Amino acid sequence: MHTLFLHSKIWRNAVIASALCLAGGLASAQNCAATIESDDALRFTPEKIEIPLACKTFMVTLKHTGRLPKLAMGHNWVLAKLSDLDGVARTGMLAGADHNYVDPKDTRVLAHTGVVGGGESTSVTFDMEKLVPGERYGFVCTFAGHSPVMRGVITLK
Ligand code: CO
Repeated sequence: MHTLFLHSKIWRNAVIASALCLAGGLASAQNCAATIESDDALRFTPEKIEIPLACKTFMVTLKHTGRLPKLAMGHNWVLAKLSDLDGVARTGMLAGADHNYVDPKDTRVLAHTGVVGGGESTSVTFDMEKLVPGERYGFVCTFAGHSPVMRGVITLK
């Protein structure tokens, strides 16, 4: 009787401990990841991502919630310094669809996803060592013609 009680207590503590551990793991995973939605109306939602400096890596998932196909309304997510966004959009246009609108030789591109169409999603994980505290970063869709409106800002916290 006594042994049975002791066992159930140990089990209960083990269950609580693993639940706490799981919650901790999920919390830190959420802090070092963000989901950005894009649509058929050339919008990124949200247009701002906060990245904790404590993260070693950061994962961005790009969802396309629209219906239009990749060839007509493709979106990608390209990370660069704010001051480099126009430049990487230009070289991306020249690189064209075959290169997902990203010039592989453009070192100003710090991270990027592939191009997705309506209903698709993709993700990229990048090393936080690429980002320098105090510098200003942003993101842009470099698909043909999208960069003037599809862009957002990164805040390092
Ligand atoms: Co786009």
